[in-house]
Amino acid sequence: MKKKLKIGLVGFGVVGQGLYDVLQKSPALDAEILSICVKNKKQRSLPDGLFCYSADDILNNPEINLVVELISESEQAYHIVTKALKAGKNVVSANKKMIAENLNELVQLQKENNVSLLYEASACGSIPVIRNLEEYYDNDLLLSVTGILNGSSNYILSKIFDHNKDYSTALKEAQDLGFAEADPSFDVDGFDSLFKLVILTAHSFGTLVNPNDVLNYGISNISDFDIRYAKEKGYKIKLVGQVEKLEENKISLFVLPRLVQRDKYIYNVEDEFNGVVIKGLAYDKQFMFGKGAGGHPTGSAVLSDITAIAHDYRYEYKKMNFYNSFKYEKDVTIEIYLRYKKMEDLEKFKFESISEEYIGPEYNYKIGMIKIKDLMSLKEHLRSMDIFIAVTRKTLNY
Ligand SMILES: NC(=O)c1ccc[n+]([C@@H]2O[C@H](COP(=O)([O-])OP(=O)(O)OC[C@H]3O[C@@H](n4cnc5c(N)ncnc54)[C@H](OP(=O)(O)O)[C@@H]3O)[C@@H](O)[C@H]2O)c1
Repeated sequence: MKKKLKIGLVGFGVVGQGLYDVLQKSPALDAEILSICVKNKKQRSLPDGLFCYSADDILNNPEINLVVELISESEQAYHIVTKALKAGKNVVSANKKMIAENLNELVQLQKENNVSLLYEASACGSIPVIRNLEEYYDNDLLLSVTGILNGSSNYILSKIFDHNKDYSTALKEAQDLGFAEADPSFDVDGFDSLFKLVILTAHSFGTLVNPNDVLNYGISNISDFDIRYAKEKGYKIKLVGQVEKLEENKISLFVLPRLVQRDKYIYNVEDEFNGVVIKGLAYDKQFMFGKGAGGHPTGSAVLSDITAIAHDYRYEYKKMNFYNSFKYEKDVTIEIYLRYKKMEDLEKFKFESISEEYIGPEYNYKIGMIKIKDLMSLKEHLRSMDIFIAVTRKTLNY
């Protein structure tokens, strides 16, 4: 039954304001924002009386039946969201870090309190990938979900590969345009993609994975040598997150740069856009493409969740509850390109076999097979070594 939604909005930044705008263009939805909680007192585009400065004012308001959490901070978001669920309020959130790090508890809280938490905007902004994985791909045919999940790093890579910029110039341009933060590591070192991948994994294969237990390595160590290597071979480098079904009810997942050939869908995903390839047994490949960030695109995904709440929708976590569970496996071999300078760095990598190697005056590289669990054991050190890693084309199913 469709019901009147009385919304408490927490956060009125890029996405909060975007949501407010798209909500004005949706008169069919019977929803009203009763109060907006923000951090700082300052001049806003809406009347002062609409704003409050403590989330408790929203959480303790019995009239509010839906909390929309759109703040930037994940710890505070966790407290707001869990308190709202425990108070019997439905919640919509866009906070990928908070959701990925606490998904197990959030699933339980929804069940215990008979409420719904929706978070379509947390992965790939305006692309409705979570709800589709949950509802349409709710059978055994799914093989893998592979995507460019982070717009900032993709913007930088596009400037490098399509406009011949070097990494630092491209990063500065992305920062000047607001696509990358002053501290860009959340995006360029693959953390943002990691949290999104963990969420997509729960809805693809029903497996809850701790983000700390997943390999994420980004593009911040990319050098002109790597760019030249990729261009000479006709590849682009993209930062890609992938979860893939293996044999015996197992899955593998990781976020790594990848050497991408022209014939792949994600080759043409440029600038701040996101793209997700869904591969299945009977339908081969399907591709979802769109804006992964920005106030209005992300606000539209939040709006879609609000509409879904109005129709009593909730994730059933079908794969988790009704299917064989998939075990996360790290004992999986992939082929990588490793560019390195010092022998002592190379020696840390336990290659199982080598198919190509090059020794040069500036840098060296090897291409070979290596286990994800062996890369995982180096996870904390990878960024501080003078190396770059990219998955080669031979590896995977996408
Ligand atoms: N930006 C995007 O394109 C995008 C895309 C997908 C998902 N997301 C996710 O959406 C969420 C919001 O991102 P955003 O870009 O809109 O952030 P933002 O522009 O930095 O805005 C954050 C808002 O939250 C408020 N806020 C911060 N801490 C608060 C607290 N403790 N209590 C109450 N209000 C608080 C801020 O108040 P003040 O106005 O007083 O500073 C501001 O209004 C994040 O989880 C982000 O990861 C963003």
